[in-house]
Amino acid sequence: MEPTGAALTNVEAVETEETPMPAVKMFRPAVIGAAAVVVAANLALAHGDVAPQPVDTDALPEVGEEWLTENPYREAEAGRDVWLKAIEVGASGYNQNCARCHGLEVISGGLAPDLRFLEAEEYGDEWYVERFRHGYTQNGTTKMPAFGELLGQKAAWAIRTYIEARPDDAVIEEKSAELKEIRDTLAAGEGDVAALQARLEEISGEIETLSGAPVADSIAFRAANQLAADPTATAHAAETLTIGLSAAH
Ligand code: HEC
Repeated sequence: MEPTGAALTNVEAVETEETPMPAVKMFRPAVIGAAAVVVAANLALAHGDVAPQPVDTDALPEVGEEWLTENPYREAEAGRDVWLKAIEVGASGYNQNCARCHGLEVISGGLAPDLRFLEAEEYGDEWYVERFRHGYTQNGTTKMPAFGELLGQKAAWAIRTYIEARPDDAVIEEKSAELKEIRDTLAAGEGDVAALQARLEEISGEIETLSGAPVADSIAFRAANQLAADPTATAHAAETLTIGLSAAH
């Protein structure tokens, strides 16, 4: 049985043979008209025959040559520092290689499955790594390019770590009024920083992942960590909240 994936709609046919990567190819719109050309160009960008972007994984521990079937960078296995680093590396790797189909912040716009729902355990991992390595081709059409050889195993698991730690955006939406208030207080350099940090931690605890991963890497989580590391970093924490709140509209 395959794990759930959102129904596919509007997947652009990227015509290619079984080449490992679709090379850069532009659409040649038959209809010549400014609007048509713009639309075609946007589609080409959105679905992108774009070369994969290398991911700098030097800061992450080696995991060997053989492909694993379970994420080695989870906090429980690798410790908090490695886990946080994997999220950071994975965020960049995801945004450069996956977001154009699977959506910014891993919130799918319907073009490809919403990866936040892939279970954060071995079952989900096996499926993840299968798709990551080999991509997906249907009737000779590459719907998802293969990334295994090009990006390698460390990048695969870093991206996996980032994906599974995405917060439930609906809960952030519910909390957004309070988060804005905390942001304003921090930005003004007012308020009791320890109390604000404690409240951010509480909110962070209420924001869950959709993958079942134990901790969501939400803006509340990040801002609380920044204040815990340095209680004078109020401007930094305010900025984290600002960016996250505007990303969530
Ligand atoms: C060109 C568009 C495209 C890009 C780029 C892309 N994917 Fe996909 N991906 C798809 C499509 C389409 C599917 C659905 C294929 C299918 O029917 O199983 C898919 C499926 C998946 C699945 C299986 C999801 C499920 O619920 O069954 C995973 C995991 C996945 N992609 C991960 C990634 C990762 C990680 C990246 C970046 C390294 C990436 N994809 C880049 C289009 C893309």
